[in-house]
Amino acid sequence: MAGRKPVQLAVLVSGNGSNLQAIIDRIEAGEINARIVCVISNKPDAFALRRASKHGIATVIHENSNFANRREYDTALVEILRSHGTELVILAGFMRILTDVMVTAFPNAIMNIHPALLPAFPGLHAQQQALDYGVRFSGCTVHFVDCGTDTGPIIIQAVVPVLPDDTEESLSARIQKEEHRVFPEAIKLFSEGKISVQGRHIRILP
Ligand code: GRF
Repeated sequence: MAGRKPVQLAVLVSGNGSNLQAIIDRIEAGEINARIVCVISNKPDAFALRRASKHGIATVIHENSNFANRREYDTALVEILRSHGTELVILAGFMRILTDVMVTAFPNAIMNIHPALLPAFPGLHAQQQALDYGVRFSGCTVHFVDCGTDTGPIIIQAVVPVLPDDTEESLSARIQKEEHRVFPEAIKLFSEGKISVQGRHIRILP
């Protein structure tokens, strides 16, 4: 880690923030050379905001309803992110689709976690989609964000079995365990400059 300056992260959330917590814990343990410059929520009551405050991290509430459309929302979001010196944007359960305004402002510098093995089951209720389809395995995917829904270049995936009696809750819990492992791992790789992007292919450098 010596020599490299900590990557400045902004984490966008809408809800519980268990992924945010996993990232905070790995940073505080000294395992990732990064600093969370702010946590931004589009929901004022998101529990993730309390988690951030508990760790002394700045929080911003950026509500959907204050803006006429998605592009205006994103234009203001870019301004907030820039004012905090953000280098990498982390979507940790942020329940909004980003527009080209955000994607072009942070090219290959917005990471999302999706609770399925993309390109299978993009969009909402991915775990239920996997159960309905009858797959034997599912998992999670960390990817860079492009202008599509869950279509960007894949950084890391982790696989879990789907068991015969699984419910949406039990499968989600098994997948979340892996989310909490691989999302911080992807951020660590980014912070070490080890992610090389060629088109939609990502190479992890040694
Ligand atoms: C996770 O399941 C993630 O895959 C999805 O949103 C959920 C966020 O959970 N994108 P949390 O708020 O991090 O607990």
